[in-house]
Amino acid sequence: MPSPLRILVTRRIPEAGLSLLKKKRGLVLDIYEGDGAIPRKELLKRVKTADILLSLLTDRIDAEVMDAAPHLQMIANYAVGFDNIDLVAAAKRDIAVTNTPAPEVFETVAEHAIALIFGLAHRIVESDTFTRAGKYHGWGPQMLLGNDVAGKTLGIIGGGAIGSALAKRMHDGFDVHIVYHDIKRNSLLETAYDATYMTLPRLLKESDFVSLHVPLLPSTRHLISTAELKLMKKTALLINTSRGPVVNEKALTRALAKGTIGGAGLDVYECEPLIDCDPTDTLELRKLPNVILTPHTASATHEARDAMSVCAAKNILAYISGKRPENMVH
Ligand code: DGY
Repeated sequence: MPSPLRILVTRRIPEAGLSLLKKKRGLVLDIYEGDGAIPRKELLKRVKTADILLSLLTDRIDAEVMDAAPHLQMIANYAVGFDNIDLVAAAKRDIAVTNTPAPEVFETVAEHAIALIFGLAHRIVESDTFTRAGKYHGWGPQMLLGNDVAGKTLGIIGGGAIGSALAKRMHDGFDVHIVYHDIKRNSLLETAYDATYMTLPRLLKESDFVSLHVPLLPSTRHLISTAELKLMKKTALLINTSRGPVVNEKALTRALAKGTIGGAGLDVYECEPLIDCDPTDTLELRKLPNVILTPHTASATHEARDAMSVCAAKNILAYISGKRPENMVH
């Protein structure tokens, strides 16, 4: 290992992990302190001298970046997802890649999905808007009626760690019946939370709430599109805290406007940070009352972001001491 080792951090992350790196002798941290994501030009310039890159999900780390970085040995992504990294290009160049699947993140994202489910079912955002607008002139027996969550069926697509954290909370806490779909079965989900494994079409037909917890892969891009939305109940709610392109957003917007499904809680967007890929489109997600939109903040708690920061730092420290980092992506 060269000494000192230069780590390019593409945006300031919580101190919890940075302080671990600062304590280690022989490391130089180059932290991009600009507002927002590091501009591409700046990334290409600064990565030239980097041995390790601590990247964010907003950074596209492709062959061009890797070729601009002759010393680069490791990419420590500060995210559970790693669809922003060209893994084939990294493997070809023998660059290690890690992510940050800290248990705290699973809890936090599951909580956010639950918040979206309840927010939609109880029409919290609509009710808040109504109240702030001065429209509340007295209690009404039919005013802003929503739906109970208890006793309903939740379809979880992706029965991994986040899907399982969601299943546990909804089953144990809210008497919700869990059904799930994945490329492989998860026996823990079935035994601990009475989850029923289903094909995707059956899950879509039977669920009152559908929550997506799959990584973005070629096989999951537009997993939910017009045909899938048509299978869902007219009252069903779609929750997406995974990656935007898992849902065909145009098809979803049409389905929401036409009442094909009841509502959607979205934390991620197909053309993020744009909400709606086509800015000239008049049918906008933002104008629909039956959606709740959050700005990719499903993991945005102090607990989760600190844990991700520590996780990224520990991956780097393991790598430089010659050990296999716990969260190697390949
Ligand atoms: C992740 O870690 O992949 C999340 O999307 C961050 O919010």
